[in-house]
Amino acid sequence: MSGATLNAGTGVKPWRLGARTRKAVLVLHIASVGSWLGIDVVMAVLTFTALGTDDQSTKVLCFRVLELVTVWPMTVSGLMCLVTGVLLAMGSKYGLTKYWWVVVKLVLNLLLSTLVLMSLRPGVAEIADRAEANDLDIPLGDMIYPPIVSPTLLMFAVVLSVFKPWGLLRKKKR
Ligand code: HEM
Repeated sequence: MSGATLNAGTGVKPWRLGARTRKAVLVLHIASVGSWLGIDVVMAVLTFTALGTDDQSTKVLCFRVLELVTVWPMTVSGLMCLVTGVLLAMGSKYGLTKYWWVVVKLVLNLLLSTLVLMSLRPGVAEIADRAEANDLDIPLGDMIYPPIVSPTLLMFAVVLSVFKPWGLLRKKKR
């Protein structure tokens, strides 16, 4: 733990991560973001290759691999990003609900992780089952959104992390 100033009014020392621990958690946070984005790229390559090819065996292969590489690796990256992000926020001056950029990132992280489990998981499972049964007449609309929406929101979160816009949720009392 590092030396922290007393909370105004309460006299309680806020909890802070020590400098080394904070750096270690930040490394894990950035690594989880990197792997999450990487899996998004793999998902996009597989999805658009499957949609663009006329070769049936390539299509089937892409859909099967899609199920394998997306859901669980993405869930783990999303959860790791969430846990390390919450630790970084709570163990620093930023706090979990003090700054807009942190709150928006928290909401995005929760939203994307929920979508992976509630929407992407059953979606790719169905596609893989269809591919198994050689039923490849899959509506395009079902497939193109995840590889576009997920990396776009993640990149937005990266921009928020670097620029930290919009300031405090509540204005400080004078
Ligand atoms: C939505 C997915 C997320 C992405 C893509 C993301 C991205 C990043 C990146 C790239 C950094 C490094 C910024 C820098 O060192 O300049 C960072 C730092 C940080 N993130 Fe996240 N993050 C995400 C989720 C979260 C969540 C859920 C929280 C907390 C609720 C959070 C809180 C923080 C904090 C406090 C820092 C340290 C900022 C600093 O010390 O400058 N992040 N994030």
